[in-house]
Amino acid sequence: MSSTLYTDIATLVTNDSSLDRGLLGELSDAAFIEEDGYISWVGEKALAPNADHRVSLAGKSVLPGFVDSHAHLVFAGDRSKEFSARMNGESYSAGGIMTTVNATRAATDEELDEGIATRAMEMYQSGITTFETKSGYGLTVADELRSLKLAVQHTEDVTFLGAHVIPEEYKSRPDDYVALVIGEMLEACAPYSKWIDVFCDKGAFDYDQAKAILNAGLDAGLLPRIHANQLSSSRAVELAVELDCASADHLTHLTDKEIDLLAGSKTVATLLPGAEFSTRSAYPDARKLHAAGATVAIATDCNPGSSFTTSMPFCIAVAVRDMRFSVEQAVYAATMGGAKALQRDDVGLLAVGKAADFIVLDAPSYLHLAYRPGVDLISETFIAGTSIYRSNK
Ligand code: NIG
Ligand code: FE
Repeated sequence: MSSTLYTDIATLVTNDSSLDRGLLGELSDAAFIEEDGYISWVGEKALAPNADHRVSLAGKSVLPGFVDSHAHLVFAGDRSKEFSARMNGESYSAGGIMTTVNATRAATDEELDEGIATRAMEMYQSGITTFETKSGYGLTVADELRSLKLAVQHTEDVTFLGAHVIPEEYKSRPDDYVALVIGEMLEACAPYSKWIDVFCDKGAFDYDQAKAILNAGLDAGLLPRIHANQLSSSRAVELAVELDCASADHLTHLTDKEIDLLAGSKTVATLLPGAEFSTRSAYPDARKLHAAGATVAIATDCNPGSSFTTSMPFCIAVAVRDMRFSVEQAVYAATMGGAKALQRDDVGLLAVGKAADFIVLDAPSYLHLAYRPGVDLISETFIAGTSIYRSNK
């Protein structure tokens, strides 16, 4: 048993609504105690009880670690030329996914594992303490299975995305691929997955195919989430709400009717600012979603095609600048929003009994996350009370 008092915190974001201190449950000149990986006390510095150790964070601020509820970390290869072509006027399409599928199939397990570990470390450096990751670049039973087996070594929130696109070899018989995903592939992959996801969009899977796949996943004990409305306003949002998906992600194209549908549902609206940024798309209106009453999350969507970033501060800055979020709303969406999208109540907030997953920011307030875009302000990242990354600045 060991406890540490972190004190002299300029601004502490708790996300604890019971404190009645605004959306972020903000405390100034604050302190908290970490004990055996959990938070055991939070409050004003002047009222702090004693602990075994004492760390002064004078002038710095503390936030719950970011919760990245949408990432594709299991892949090989590089698509920087495709990105460059887009910046020269080409448009993004689901077709580019096959480039990564071919590279992933050709990679060794060691190469894939190293890629996940490298990107996970980048995430810790950006303040992410919980992340989800998907398969989806294998698209054969063996390659999806090995992707998931590797992923479970890095996170508990693993998602089976065999339904990412119809692979080239099934282009002329898409129904056979859907049957494979629902049958043999799901059976092999379910033991290594908590979630099931489908890319329900133009050039990928339609409403009926997506519904069949998500329902099969539910029957196999997986929980559904969905890639919705990235390329077009399809019926993906309707399906998300119909099946009580934990989250509908992207929402680049969003009608007022769809906003109301999400607001009246348990489905979290997950926005992926890196994707609009890297595909030069128009941004959805986060403020409108929030005002309608929807729960909103922000995630990185880290993948080699549409959003090759592991930086949550970057996503927050873009959400504030281009999705009309306030800084408070964006920070909440990147912490509690992500936790809600993953249906996790142990992370995303700093309150007694919750995981001691937190970030020390080299700034007097979380406002600097958007106020100082592109500047690395993460001083230290802790998971379960243990420092997992420390800046050497
Ligand atoms: O979430 N939209 C589908 N999947 C990924 C992109 C995949 C890729 O282009 O490789 C996404 O943006
Ligand atoms: Fe994605």
